[in-house]
Amino acid sequence: VFKRKLTFAAAAKVSRSLPSLNLPEIAFAGRSNVGKSSLINALTRQWGVVRTSDKPGMTQSVNFFTLGSRLCLVDLPGYGFAYAKEEAKEAWEDLVKEYVTTRKILKRVCLLVDSKWGLKPRDEELIELMENAQTKYQIVLTKTDILPPLDLARRATQIQEALKHHKQLILPVLMVSSQTGGGIPHLRKALVNLALS
Ligand code: GTP
Ligand code: MG
Repeated sequence: VFKRKLTFAAAAKVSRSLPSLNLPEIAFAGRSNVGKSSLINALTRQWGVVRTSDKPGMTQSVNFFTLGSRLCLVDLPGYGFAYAKEEAKEAWEDLVKEYVTTRKILKRVCLLVDSKWGLKPRDEELIELMENAQTKYQIVLTKTDILPPLDLARRATQIQEALKHHKQLILPVLMVSSQTGGGIPHLRKALVNLALS
């Protein structure tokens, strides 16, 4: 399914403009600059459909990309340190929270965490919301090319330990690098069953 054509389908800045595409959705959430948009590119090997930037705050709306007619990948705006007006940030953070807690067709949230920084309070806040809403989510450590393998393994264990009583969490914690492609096939495998067959 990840070989199918990735096509931009819709963007929403407010909840009433969230589209009904009738495809299972997988969303990518996490702090600004953690590598959400890059990961969609790496998973699909289709560069240039989803825009990325070295400046935090690139993605400013909930963006829907279809993969053929099987699956929809949803690129969420980041929370944390985006270069944007306070009101705009609040509005899109509220939309992200609403989306991950109420979206019926949402099959999985990939919560991306920078392997160098680990879980931050904002991540924990989103995790609690998803737990309460019974939204299934998976932790994906990003930018693993920057960290020595030993630190990486330690980071993964630390997160797994911190979240061990969380019911909606899908294990294991995965580790990826969109830069080198490390761990990407593994993540594809973890997600492929969520697509329409
Ligand atoms: P927002 O849209 O601002 O929330 O950011 P985002 O999470 O979509 O991040 P984006 O994919 O735009 O990437 C942010 C920066 O991190 C870019 O400069 C990317 O090139 C870089 N980056 C993304 N993935 C990796 C990775 O695996 N390794 C390294 N070293 N850099 C990465
Ligand atoms: Mg982005």
